[in-house]
Amino acid sequence: MKREFYSGIRYLCTSVFFVVCTIIGNAQKSNDMESKIDSILSQMTLKEKVDLCHAQSKFSTKGVERLGIPEVWMADGPHGVRAEISWDSWNYAGWTNDSITAFPVLTCLASTFRPELAGQYGFSLGEEARYRKKDVLLGPGVNIYRTPLNGRNFEYMGEDPYLASVMAVPYIKGVQKNGVAACVKHYALNNQEKWRSLINVELSDRALHEIYLPAFKASVQEAGVWSIMGAYNKVRGQYATHNEFLNNDILKTKWNFDGVVISDWSAAHSTTESALYGLDMEMGTGTDGLGSNVKNHYDYYYLANPFLEKLKNNEIPESIVDDKARRILRLMFRTNMNPNRPLGRVNNQEHSDVAYKVATEGMVLLKNQDEFFPIQDSKGLTIAVIGENATRAMSAGGGSSELKPKFEISPLEGLKKRYKNATILHTMGYETGPSEYNRIVPGKLNADSLRTKAIEISKQADVVLFIGGLNKSNSQDCEGNDRKAFGLPFNQDNIINEIHEVNQNLGVIIVSGNAVDMPWLSKVKGLIESWYLGSVTGIAMADVISGKVNPSGKLPFSFPKRLEDNSAHYFGESSYPGDGVNQYYKDDILVGYRWHDTKKIKPLFAFGYGKSYTTFELSNIAANKKKYDKDGTIEVTCDVSNTGEVDGAEVVQVYVGKPNSKVDRAKKELKGFAKVALKQGEKKTVTIAIDISKLKYYDTGISDWNLELGNYDIYVGNASDNIIKKSTIKIE
Ligand code: BGC
Repeated sequence: MKREFYSGIRYLCTSVFFVVCTIIGNAQKSNDMESKIDSILSQMTLKEKVDLCHAQSKFSTKGVERLGIPEVWMADGPHGVRAEISWDSWNYAGWTNDSITAFPVLTCLASTFRPELAGQYGFSLGEEARYRKKDVLLGPGVNIYRTPLNGRNFEYMGEDPYLASVMAVPYIKGVQKNGVAACVKHYALNNQEKWRSLINVELSDRALHEIYLPAFKASVQEAGVWSIMGAYNKVRGQYATHNEFLNNDILKTKWNFDGVVISDWSAAHSTTESALYGLDMEMGTGTDGLGSNVKNHYDYYYLANPFLEKLKNNEIPESIVDDKARRILRLMFRTNMNPNRPLGRVNNQEHSDVAYKVATEGMVLLKNQDEFFPIQDSKGLTIAVIGENATRAMSAGGGSSELKPKFEISPLEGLKKRYKNATILHTMGYETGPSEYNRIVPGKLNADSLRTKAIEISKQADVVLFIGGLNKSNSQDCEGNDRKAFGLPFNQDNIINEIHEVNQNLGVIIVSGNAVDMPWLSKVKGLIESWYLGSVTGIAMADVISGKVNPSGKLPFSFPKRLEDNSAHYFGESSYPGDGVNQYYKDDILVGYRWHDTKKIKPLFAFGYGKSYTTFELSNIAANKKKYDKDGTIEVTCDVSNTGEVDGAEVVQVYVGKPNSKVDRAKKELKGFAKVALKQGEKKTVTIAIDISKLKYYDTGISDWNLELGNYDIYVGNASDNIIKKSTIKIE
């Protein structure tokens, strides 16, 4: 009798399992995923549904073994797949097979101004995530660059919502082609690390919709992203991770998002709000979901037992958990329950090639007096390489985006490989100590001796390259804290000045994800913003420095002359960083170059700016018509000629402004661009299409986008502050 009972149960389980497998297998082919999901849901208990909605370890959630529903595994991005973390703690798990390709950071990707490269980047990254058996890759980051002090700007794509959108979309599509969900983060308004877990952001509807949301919206509507991460901060008085307005009204209703809202780690604060205001999956830092406390079990998460209790007591309707489970199952059908997803690849040549392409196309040449760069290799030439960043491994540090690359070539190694004839001398000049999250560990070496040595070898050299900047340790481009000051840390400004006293043939390479103060700018001949370049750092840098590659990166954000010239800082502490409780985005829609342009505050280096080793001429610039109707498309054509001595690439940028608008507007906004590669002497014509609908502003009167008729100014140039032609068109 007993045996019969058990074999009956086994039969039942096998049948259910078989049915579910068939359902899963067919879902991709028959494209009726929704009815399959309904069928699975109908077989799940309340507890099983709730189990899908919260973490079971640092980076995974439970499946339902009985039904063959797998666990969901995630890994941090956004510029590489993070090494395995322990089940219950933030310690690395110590695996030996989890090293990967470190891709350049997203500021570098944005600087390439090449959406197709973003697609290759996303695809390669997705392949690595898939190989590492991840179902969700926690990236890209698309928060808008508002202040140069934000510790995480390097994980984002700059200050312009159009640029960030255009680059995020192919990245996401690329990742997801591998059957790995991208998770666009941090939704929304996590634009600073200081007080990120509690600050309440207040801003206008226009700033929200025109500046801070477009890249998220494009990720949802154009890329079809499968998951999104709710931010730590509050927005209009409610935590972003379970924010009724952001999640329910905008994301899930207006934008029709059908994927999963994943909390940032321990960003949830309430069961009722998580349940009702759009959070689907709660992840955390402590095992009790409340922070760093590890005494309890994951069952104590807000979306675990407390949620189950409220469902059982009918305080929360079952339809709420059904919706969350449905979304999570949908994510699974798209990822780990898709039998056809590819297997992924890791650390292969193609991935390095993509990383190299992004690195070399993303570095930005900011100054090149007397053609300081490129530096030719020759016998008898002595190059002094000074600065800790010449040898420091930069994939380490920075917080959750820290990586364990299979290899990382330092700038010094790269230079030594590239310069076979010249003599390369090196010393650190300063020392900063190891990168630690949330604390500063001082260096051990004597600062005076390091500086003296730097001056000594600078005297002996024909040319000096200072490779410094920030370093992804606490308060230096790192999650959890903002930078404390705009200037370079660790006395670097003084060292640069002192080097200049003994050797004026001086170039600086800034490794950072942020604008920095440059009081020494007039003293240096060459200046490159190199970003954090990942595995191929040294090779890419040496190839640009030596001229093997001609730089073509453009700044994705403005470098202000002084911190107060930046829009967020201009309005004082209530605007940035706030008072510890609230923060008011008083700069409103005038962020970045919108601010500099409109207020006529000259930046040090403007958005869209970047030099080349060759020269370009933009000519014959014209819009295809003088008048357009509301549904039209403006086509701007422009001839681009390479008028210099070497091959190169230029970015034609089209900005649009609305003079005499009935609402406040930025003087101009980026609406289109095209990067053109040109051989020496070559000329090409580019056409940039702009849908008139893209010229709408967010009309608070109707709570929707609205198009103003009348005249618009079209500005075409190769930087936001270098407009070659302005013309006027009319929309009727
Ligand atoms: C970060 C997220 C990250 C998560 C998991 C959080 O602290 O804000 O970006 O994905 O940790 O590591």
